[in-house]
Amino acid sequence: MVDPFKSFPACVFGASGGIGAALTARLAARADVSFVYAGARLPVTAGEKIRAFAFDLEEEASLANATTIMADEPPRLIIVATGMLHGGGVQPEKSLKAQTGDAYARLFATNATGPALIAKHMLARPPRERRFVFAALSARVGSISDNRLGGWHAYRASKAALNMIVRNIAIELGRTNPQAIAVTLHPGTVDTNLSKPFRRNATRSGLFSADYAAKRLLEVVDGLTPEQSGQCLAWDGSVIPS
Ligand SMILES: NC(=O)c1ccc[n+]([C@@H]2O[C@H](COP(=O)([O-])OP(=O)(O)OC[C@H]3O[C@@H](n4cnc5c(N)ncnc54)[C@H](OP(=O)(O)O)[C@@H]3O)[C@@H](O)[C@H]2O)c1
Repeated sequence: MVDPFKSFPACVFGASGGIGAALTARLAARADVSFVYAGARLPVTAGEKIRAFAFDLEEEASLANATTIMADEPPRLIIVATGMLHGGGVQPEKSLKAQTGDAYARLFATNATGPALIAKHMLARPPRERRFVFAALSARVGSISDNRLGGWHAYRASKAALNMIVRNIAIELGRTNPQAIAVTLHPGTVDTNLSKPFRRNATRSGLFSADYAAKRLLEVVDGLTPEQSGQCLAWDGSVIPS
């Protein structure tokens, strides 16, 4: 039996994704999580401790509506597990000449603007005293100083923008709640639809299952301190430079 005074609601945006589904399942299985708001474009199946809701990153009204749904019991952990690398005619670029405005627009809308608008609505009234975590899945390739290979122009740029957006969120949250934490997280190379066409270079031991990535990411989230707010952290807890 979950003690409502010792457990807290969590929320996953992108619960239909490979990593998002695994995070949702792991959170729902925890005794210290009272239930999980699980958001997806096509709502996932609701179940014990899973409260499904619909949203689309490109429809801001759906994000405002999500906040309303959670108003009575707001989550104290929000994980944004949405993201896009390819699809609908968009492919990671190998050269400058492969860039298109459409790819930039699509990837920025999904990877940067969308999470920013989630924060706009979900953090309009953040808890002012208790521990609170906002974590968005980014990618190591969003690190500017770590970029030695080039390519993947729009995806890299959209994730670098996400890292900046979350650093801003951290600063603003910290002004009213010293226990609030906002970070971006790199999950490693994970066996999902997003990575499938591009993981030739991942060694067998370097390719994580979604469940293993979720386990490691939640360990990082559990260990976060307010001093780490604003950082981008990898699945093993190491800091990824900006
Ligand atoms: N897999 C990896 O190796 C890897 C490596 C580094 C970083 N990441 C990051 O980890 C995150 C999760 O990736 P994943 O591997 O789990 O990918 P995935 O399986 O393709 O999941 C992507 C999720 O994003 C959702 N989404 C995309 N556009 C959306 C929109 N407009 N509105 C609402 N939801 C939208 C998808 O919803 P639908 O189901 O409706 O399409 C899905 O839930 C991404 O940010 C990705 O960049 C992944």
